[in-house]
Amino acid sequence: MTAPPPAAADAPAAATSTAAAPPSTAFIEYRAVSKAFAGQPVLRDLSLSISRGEILFIVGTSGVGKSVAIKLLIGLYRIDAGEIWFDGQRVDQLPERALAPLRKRIGMVFQSATLFDSMTLAENVALPLRKHRRLAWSAALDDARRRLAQVHMTEHADRYPAELSDGMRKRAAIARTLALDPEVVLFDEPTTGLDPVSARRIDRLIRELASRLGVTAVVVSHDPPSIFGTADRIALLYQGAIRALATPDALRASPDPIVQQFITGQSTGPMETPGF
Ligand SMILES: Nc1ncnc2c1ncn2[C@@H]1O[C@H](COP(=O)(O)OP(=O)(O)O)[C@@H](O)[C@H]1O
Ligand SMILES: [Mg+2]
Repeated sequence: MTAPPPAAADAPAAATSTAAAPPSTAFIEYRAVSKAFAGQPVLRDLSLSISRGEILFIVGTSGVGKSVAIKLLIGLYRIDAGEIWFDGQRVDQLPERALAPLRKRIGMVFQSATLFDSMTLAENVALPLRKHRRLAWSAALDDARRRLAQVHMTEHADRYPAELSDGMRKRAAIARTLALDPEVVLFDEPTTGLDPVSARRIDRLIRELASRLGVTAVVVSHDPPSIFGTADRIALLYQGAIRALATPDALRASPDPIVQQFITGQSTGPMETPGF
C-alpha cells in the first residue's frame, strides 16, 4: 500500500527505532528480539511467528529462556532490541497502562500458579470475573462454575485447593485464566511436577481449548510426551534463538544433531547448556 506517511500524532511516542519495517500481519510475531539480564544474553535475535488458533510449543533445556520468551509478550519483561507484534499492534513498547488490556487478551498460566487456600475453586475463579467484569458476586460465581466445567472440574467447584491434587489445582488455575476469555493462553510448563495421567489430562485440555474455544496456546515445556502429543508446531529454543520450528513429525525426522539430542535427552552430544 502506498499510503502517505502517518501524521506525527499517530506515531507511538516511544518509536525511536530506525528503519520502519512494515507492520506484522502475523497473529503473534517476534522480530529479532534480544534480551539480556545483567549483561548476560538470554535471547539473541529471536524471530518467531505464531498463527491464530494454533498450539505452539516452545521447548528447550532448562534455563534456555523459554519463560522469558513468553513473559516478554505480555510485558512482564521489556526487550532490549527487536519488535513484538500481536494482532497488528506493536506490543513491546506499550506503556504500563496499556498492559492490563493486553493481558486480558493474552492470559498466562504461571508455572507455580497459586490459588487462594481460603477460597473454594469457584470463588478463586470468580475473583477475576468480579474484578475485571464488575459482576455481582453471585453472577461471578455462576460464571466461575461454567469455567470450571470447561476444565472438567464441575464436581469440585466447592472444594478448597488443599483438598485437591496438583493436577486438579492446575486445571482450576487454567479455568481462572480462561475467566477473562483470552484469545491467547501462555502456559509455562503446565505438566511439570504432575504424574503422567494428570499430565496427559492437561495436554488433552489444551487441545480442547484450542479446538472448542479457538484459543491460541503457546506452551513452554520440556516434557517430551506432552510436546509430541499436543503441539501443532514445536519451536526449539537454543542459544537465544529458534533452532528449529516444525511439526512434531518433521522435528522427529530432523537431521540436526542438536534437535536429536534434545529429543532423545542424551547427556552427551553437540548441545551446549545455556550460557554463551
Ligand atoms: N528476572 C531475572 N533476572 C535475572 N535473570 C533472569 C531473570 N529471569 C530469567 N533470568 C535468566 O534468564 C535465563 C533464562 O531463564 P528462563 O526463561 O526462566 O529459562 P527456562 O528456559 O528454564 O524457562 C536464565 O539464565 C535465568 O537465570
Ligand atoms: Mg521456565
